[in-house]
Amino acid sequence: LKDNKLGRATFFPLTVIKERYVDYESLNTLKSSNDFIGVLSDLVTYNKKYKNIIKKGVFEMSYSIAIDGPAGAGKSTIAKLIAKKKSYIYVDTGAMYRAMALFFIESGISADEQEKISAACKNVDVTISYENGEQIVWLNGRNVNGLIRTEEVGKMASASSANKDVREKLVELQRALAEKENVVMDGRDIGTVVLPKANVKVYLTASSRVRAVRRYEELKAKGEECDLEVIEKDIIERDYRDMHRDISPLKQADDAVLLDSSDMT
Ligand code: DC
Repeated sequence: LKDNKLGRATFFPLTVIKERYVDYESLNTLKSSNDFIGVLSDLVTYNKKYKNIIKKGVFEMSYSIAIDGPAGAGKSTIAKLIAKKKSYIYVDTGAMYRAMALFFIESGISADEQEKISAACKNVDVTISYENGEQIVWLNGRNVNGLIRTEEVGKMASASSANKDVREKLVELQRALAEKENVVMDGRDIGTVVLPKANVKVYLTASSRVRAVRRYEELKAKGEECDLEVIEKDIIERDYRDMHRDISPLKQADDAVLLDSSDMT
């Protein structure tokens, strides 16, 4: 089945086409790419086996998995495993918000100066690339992977991500990535706003206590001084900010699968 109007060809076993379209010669008279897509959709419904071929070969649609949830629920661990197993690209959207937050901190802007944050957006360029499967975040041409994992940057990211101009900039970049690649994307608004049509949506959560204990153990393992109660208080505050902002608050998409990892290892 060849479609010159789309400039692409897709191959189905002739038997499938003949079975479905007795008068299959008439397929050559399709007038528009919409007609063609209609035929393909019909074939997809008819024979699911060809679904992936169609997705990759004709619609060039990529597959997307959206994982949302609060900080420390285990999103990135799961997303990285899936990405490795399926050879998809892992997109850590939190890292992008963190890179912008780093820029605001370095520019001397504080979390409550929303107008300055908006104005500064035009001076920020965030891009990502991959090295051996690891996402590298570039802030105005500088690799900032080593600078964005601090509590200070995390807090600023939570505050500045409530800003409309910050979100517009990053959502555009995230959608562009998902258009051309198969992705596992994690964040707060992936299933609800960034990729509302994601093929799979998961809302991964865990109790604040469990998340605090995980973070506490991570910090202890690195030899850092920390206090479990303070960590849990910070987590609760961050959840509240992420869930109660006006634009794209963290919430479970209606069609997302809920997974509570509190009792999982
Ligand atoms: O996942 P993380 O801790 O790296 O995210 C840092 C902050 O970025 C988080 O508190 C809220 C914000 N964020 C967001 O608003 N939307 C996303 N899709 C990802 C992160």
